[in-house]
Amino acid sequence: MKIRAVLFDAYGTLFDVHSVALLAEQLYPGQGERLSQLWRDKQIEYTRLVTMSAESDKNYRPFWDLTRAALQFSAERLGLELNAGAEDRLMNEYRHLSVFPENREVLAELKRRGVPAGILSNGNPEMLDVAVKSAGFGDCLAHVLSVHATRRFKTDPAAYALGPAAFAMPARDILFVSSNCWDAIGATWYGYTTLWVNRGGAPLDRLGTAPTRVGRTLRDVLDCLPRQNARAAAAPSSS
Ligand code: LAC
Repeated sequence: MKIRAVLFDAYGTLFDVHSVALLAEQLYPGQGERLSQLWRDKQIEYTRLVTMSAESDKNYRPFWDLTRAALQFSAERLGLELNAGAEDRLMNEYRHLSVFPENREVLAELKRRGVPAGILSNGNPEMLDVAVKSAGFGDCLAHVLSVHATRRFKTDPAAYALGPAAFAMPARDILFVSSNCWDAIGATWYGYTTLWVNRGGAPLDRLGTAPTRVGRTLRDVLDCLPRQNARAAAAPSSS
């Protein structure tokens, strides 16, 4: 592998989408986990439905709007009363998701090694902007790419094409990192070198293609980099 840049998925990979389960549990005791899970599944299902539709450009709605729609559906499906206050609190929690503990140090290490990093996400620019700022990741990211520019969600090739265009290098030279197995496989299909960060020990999706690598935390990104990056970082600075 000759990795020259690293591109991260955002939701589920850098930001912990299930941190909303804690608030959901407070609002709906005993149902927080179910609501959080169904909400996430429905959110992703909606992205695929609009992108696969005949008039996908017309049917496209920003990820934030689909996230809210998925929340409303999921609450109704589970028979939970979602008043305006609860909806706003849950959506606001989604805006400020917690980050996995090792993420900051991995992004800082990439910067130290001179490996450009970015995000490629279904999230629309406004929500990504807030999430990146509240996590304090801004300094470590060369690109924050939103599929909004294409009006097509992952796993559409137009969405994945944003990465090679931004970094001006072939997809195989970019390590695409996702905790969502389907996303890691979609990126592999597109041509990226990929790392699936399988935090929860989930089974591999049976789609006939496997990610290039599988890891357990974001730290595994560092093992995918060429050795010269590590040496360059260890060498004393000439300035
Ligand atoms: C994203 C979703 C898929 O950030 O997690 O693109």
